[in-house]
Amino acid sequence: MKKKYFYPLSEDGITNEDINLASKVLKSKQITMSKITRKFEIHFAKKIGSRYALMVNSGSSANLLAVYAAGNLLRKKRLKPGDEVLIPILCWPTSLWPLVQFGLKPIFVDIDKTNLSISDNEIEKKITKKTKAIMLINALGNCCDLFKIKKIAKKNNLIIFEDNCESLGSKFKNKNLGTFGDFSTFSFFYSHQITSGEGGMVTCNNKEDYEILFTLRSHGWLGGLMSYPRNLSSYKKYINKYPKLDPRYIFSNSGFNVRPMDITAAIGLNQFKKLDQFKSSRNKNRSKILNKLISSKNWKNQFKFIQPRKNLDPSWMVLPILVNKKYKNVKKKFLNYLDKNGVETRPIISGSFNNQPSYKLYGFQKYNQKVFKNSQYVQDHGFVIGLHKHLMKTKTLNRLCKLMLKIEEM
Ligand SMILES: Cc1ncc(COP(=O)(O)O)c(C=O)c1O
Repeated sequence: MKKKYFYPLSEDGITNEDINLASKVLKSKQITMSKITRKFEIHFAKKIGSRYALMVNSGSSANLLAVYAAGNLLRKKRLKPGDEVLIPILCWPTSLWPLVQFGLKPIFVDIDKTNLSISDNEIEKKITKKTKAIMLINALGNCCDLFKIKKIAKKNNLIIFEDNCESLGSKFKNKNLGTFGDFSTFSFFYSHQITSGEGGMVTCNNKEDYEILFTLRSHGWLGGLMSYPRNLSSYKKYINKYPKLDPRYIFSNSGFNVRPMDITAAIGLNQFKKLDQFKSSRNKNRSKILNKLISSKNWKNQFKFIQPRKNLDPSWMVLPILVNKKYKNVKKKFLNYLDKNGVETRPIISGSFNNQPSYKLYGFQKYNQKVFKNSQYVQDHGFVIGLHKHLMKTKTLNRLCKLMLKIEEM
């Protein structure tokens, strides 16, 4: 059974309104991917500022489709097994594994401690003739200089994957994160900015890419279960070319089955409409926690908080915190103390990924540098607490901050 925390990483994400909308779908008996999914996709693309959006069953599936679409045989400029792809070492596993599953060679790059994302200074040092793409991760609402990255990518003819699973709603220089990649991805898992329980989205601006993503999502199928795909331009092309085939059953590509359901789409769409409101509450809660800690008479710079970079309008997912150097050795004890006293914590993303057993299992240590100084620093000093989408009660705030300042006594 799930442990009860007075300050969990995420609150109960689903509202009664979400439940009613999901029940309505269930009662309609059209529960699999259909019109509501399409409605969510159209609304999402418009609001984010992308031409196309395609919903899938998770952020991991969004990354999987993005990578396989970039290497698809129907794509003119495509990735090939053996190509090198740059990726920050402070990453989520399923930003990495689709690259490996496709046969690409991940080249790990250290991060910038101030924004937890790939170091834009380190990137150029790692580009070789074999480098064909970058997998960016906008970490926990923050980002690197994405305009600079776009320039580097253009100069070196690289495809950009932008994993924005942790940063829905953040804007850099007034442009939404999740609109910088050739492919950008989003997650609606429980603890994220919005949730549909499980769910994700992949966006792109190119029609050919969209049509590839579309078929990859569902068995390589052009027609199938929904009425709306019939307007794909490639659909008409295939019907004319293969007149003997049942037009409802044309399989033009390889594929997976990573479809969402209309139930999750109904919840996701409803939550998406409230994104700005959730973002504002999280911002306010963050300010409340920081102000309370910093104004305490016991404040001695025990913690450092990640500050949004210049021109970033952040949409926080959680509150990443670095303990002051002098507390590095008591961090574990402190986090146990918080846990025992009802505050749930977790590492920043999955820590520096070179410390994970799967990194060694796949032999990445054989051709990557041994130490990633900044990422290791973040692993050693960092942790995360929740930032909830409802405004914090003063009682909760006081209790949380009092416990946080106990680090002094560890
Ligand atoms: C950066 C990043 N990418 C991808 C994912 C995967 O998303 P999902 O849990 O929806 O599969 C996550 C999940 O938290 C993530 O943090």
